[in-house]
Amino acid sequence: MYKIITIVGARPQFIKAAVVSRAIGEWNKVHQMQIEEIIVHTGQHYDVNMSDVFFEEMSIPRPAYNLHVGGGTHGVNTGRMLEKIEQVLLDENPNVVLVYGDTDSTLAGALAAAKLHIPVAHVEAGLRSFNMNMPEEINRILTDRVSSYLFCPTDTAMDNLSQEGYDNFAVNMVNIGDVMLDASLFYRRQNKASDGIRQLVDSLGSFYLATVHRAENTDSEVRISAIMRALEKISLYKKVVLPLHPRTKKILAAHNIQLKNIVTIEPVGYFDMLYLESHCDAVLTDSGGVQKEAFFFQKPCITLRDETEWVELVKHGYNCLAGADEEKILSAEARLRGGAMEFKHELYGDGHAGNKIVEFLMDK
Ligand code: UD1
Ligand code: UDP
Repeated sequence: MYKIITIVGARPQFIKAAVVSRAIGEWNKVHQMQIEEIIVHTGQHYDVNMSDVFFEEMSIPRPAYNLHVGGGTHGVNTGRMLEKIEQVLLDENPNVVLVYGDTDSTLAGALAAAKLHIPVAHVEAGLRSFNMNMPEEINRILTDRVSSYLFCPTDTAMDNLSQEGYDNFAVNMVNIGDVMLDASLFYRRQNKASDGIRQLVDSLGSFYLATVHRAENTDSEVRISAIMRALEKISLYKKVVLPLHPRTKKILAAHNIQLKNIVTIEPVGYFDMLYLESHCDAVLTDSGGVQKEAFFFQKPCITLRDETEWVELVKHGYNCLAGADEEKILSAEARLRGGAMEFKHELYGDGHAGNKIVEFLMDK
């Protein structure tokens, strides 16, 4: 039996892990249950609509462990996760530890495994924003460096690793495409949005979808105020729907920023999110995953960051980087109204990234 420990903790990781868990299930059907997957939830995200909803909707196997580490600072969270994950790994002695993306849970899982000489497989390896002020950039660089299997989603990610000398390291690097494309293709077909979201979309007619949660925006009063001012102005002529991350909700309350025109809703499950993305006219976001989903649904995207890891979207004109600059956001939105965009590139693989990860691990 080949034992995989999967570490998850934050919303996008549940979606990515759902893809690979399904691929493991398919492998086991054909190959007489060769793989045992044990899911460890660090507890980084803990509200029902930030965590449980994804396990239920996407039928992800229940975590065997929940470490209940969440709500603290980066140092506290990462330290507590490291200690608790190490104990799980000592008890379970897996063949590989699978980590996703760039969160504190990713780094803690990778570090705990590497120190015990357990191979780490990093899904979404090689992405870089080249902004070391981002917690995510620190997490992804350090995670890549201690990983044995680097599953890159794009050629750019492969190139980034080569630039950093990874061709000289004894690691396995491969571009398998993006698991988020697998997820979007598979779950959109199920079309299971809630009645509430369908009614909201019907009542709005046309709308933009926005999400804002990145620390670089929420931790700066100047940036969060500018973004919200821009969204409020846009909302005067086109409704903006904003599912509000709990972090953003707290910050808006702390700075007493009142939203009058934006339609704020609680964070939604993945099916509702896919429905909003497929029915909106455009997306404004600082999310990594949502930038790509905008592209998957052929919607233009204005990114509320100064840089992005998904540079190919900017290069081909699907994504416009507007930062947290009110004027830039407003002029990017004005340009969008100028005409329909033609989507013609395939940038994130063939929708079978999950199967390729499993095949690659079992081949080694
Ligand atoms: C984390 C990731 C970020 C990712 C995002 C996905 C890091 C450094 N950041 O950011 O890369 O894009 O997840 O959504 O790992 N909170 C709740 N309930 C929850 C979760 C969070 O109230 O279920 C609040 C808490 O006040 C918490 C704050 O949000 O302290 C921030 O949560 P945290 O997990 O530290 O960072 P995210 O902003 O969610
Ligand atoms: N998402 C969701 N509900 C929401 C907001 C986001 O299901 O209310 C999904 C979104 O469709 C994407 C993933 O969560 O698949 C991205 O997560 P997030 O924006 O939190 O993180 P990031 O990708 O920036 O790390």
